[in-house]
Amino acid sequence: GVARPLSGRHAIVTSGPTHEPIDPVRYIANRSSGKQGHAIAAALAALGARVTLVSGPVGIADPAGVQTVHVETAAQMLAAVEAALPADVAVCAAAVGDWRVAAAAGQKMKKDGGAPPALQLAENPDILARLSAPGPLRPRLVVGFAAETEHLAEYAAAKRARKGCDWIVANNVGGTGIMGGEENEVLLLSDEGAQAWPKLSKREVAGLLADKIGKFFA
Ligand code: C5P
Repeated sequence: GVARPLSGRHAIVTSGPTHEPIDPVRYIANRSSGKQGHAIAAALAALGARVTLVSGPVGIADPAGVQTVHVETAAQMLAAVEAALPADVAVCAAAVGDWRVAAAAGQKMKKDGGAPPALQLAENPDILARLSAPGPLRPRLVVGFAAETEHLAEYAAAKRARKGCDWIVANNVGGTGIMGGEENEVLLLSDEGAQAWPKLSKREVAGLLADKIGKFFA
């Protein structure tokens, strides 16, 4: 029906940060709150989609009516996303750590009075790029995010091409209060060009994005 345009569709949403262990008690993380991704999962469910939310460690509740898979690292997030396929649409809103510690220590690293340890980093898999790669399991619609502090439209367009996703939701995180905040001001890039949305609450951004996804599948 018109009110539930996504019924019968499966959506995968990634949300939140990742934690990449340094040793059993320390990790590398980022400031992502998960608010935008969780709101998108809830908005897609409200339009009738079956939603699998793959979330890194966040301080907010699992959305009602959404199957939430909790992960810690980028590698675990990728595995959970792959396990949830096939899907009609994937929205990658997680702030996936770009790097992990190549060989996390099995025991707590000790200060021994010598030189501080040097962390050797390894690149994490790019979940959005993997989902976007052509193949039988590619979702029909793959949506990525781009957080930039300058040259928003230009960098986001380059990112869309590089990752191979269909749409990019680009936001300027240069100002204060966007990452972790309640509001978002985004530019939506698709084949149809760039659409600038006004500054809205993350819930409103999620609602507009879900509506647009609903229309895509109508
Ligand atoms: O490359 P960058 O992190 O700027 O790209 C952001 C987009 O890519 C977001 O949609 C994010 O969820 C996704 N991403 C990902 N896996 C990574 C890095 C980013 O899915 N390892």
